[in-house]
Amino acid sequence: MNIVCLYGSPRVKGNSATIAKKFCETAIEKGATVESWVLNKLSFRGCQACYACKEKSDKCVLEDDLTPVLEAVRKCDMLVLASPVYYGDVSSQLKAFIDRNFSFLVPDYATAQKRHRLEGDKTLVMILTQGSPDQDAFKDIFPKYAMFYQWMGFEKSELIRVCGVMEPRHLNKRPEVFKEAEALAEKLVG
Ligand SMILES: Cc1cc2nc3c(=O)[nH]c(=O)nc-3n(C[C@H](O)[C@H](O)[C@H](O)COP(=O)(O)O)c2cc1C
Repeated sequence: MNIVCLYGSPRVKGNSATIAKKFCETAIEKGATVESWVLNKLSFRGCQACYACKEKSDKCVLEDDLTPVLEAVRKCDMLVLASPVYYGDVSSQLKAFIDRNFSFLVPDYATAQKRHRLEGDKTLVMILTQGSPDQDAFKDIFPKYAMFYQWMGFEKSELIRVCGVMEPRHLNKRPEVFKEAEALAEKLVG
């Protein structure tokens, strides 16, 4: 199994990254290969709405650090998106990547039976961490993106969500989170 893991936080040792790392380590132990990128370290733009991917190309025509990432996502079996919650949504780094996924949709995606141009059965795993301990706060984030990723051929989607973790040290008090990450990787890869 071929996994692409994208770290959406600028904190490379932050909450979402630590959980994603645990997920990926377990996935590798179970035989998966993982390619990962820290989005904050890449230089790229969000979607320019040029519609070239609908009118003259089946790929995004922008050439920047996201080009190989998009290519890897095309070929992957599983996409892991790890992000802090910023202002009730994913980080801007991750949102800019998601907007560039527009190139995965066919020109008539709004009406087509098969909306995407990707091959194979793909799975989305989202890892979201937030400072607020309120489980009801920002619970709309995952279903919203799971729907769009289903349009793009990710029929299965899973969530690891941790509320009430502002600082990375707060995860130390939540050993169950690492067990959850391990168990999910074992379930999906093992
Ligand atoms: C710019 C910014 C915006 C934030 N917005 C929210 C928010 O809307 N809701 C929330 O619960 N926490 C918010 N937080 C807290 C982070 O979601 C929380 O610290 C998270 O666990 C950080 O994950 P990371 O360590 O992976 O970066 C915000 C933090 C920053 C820096």
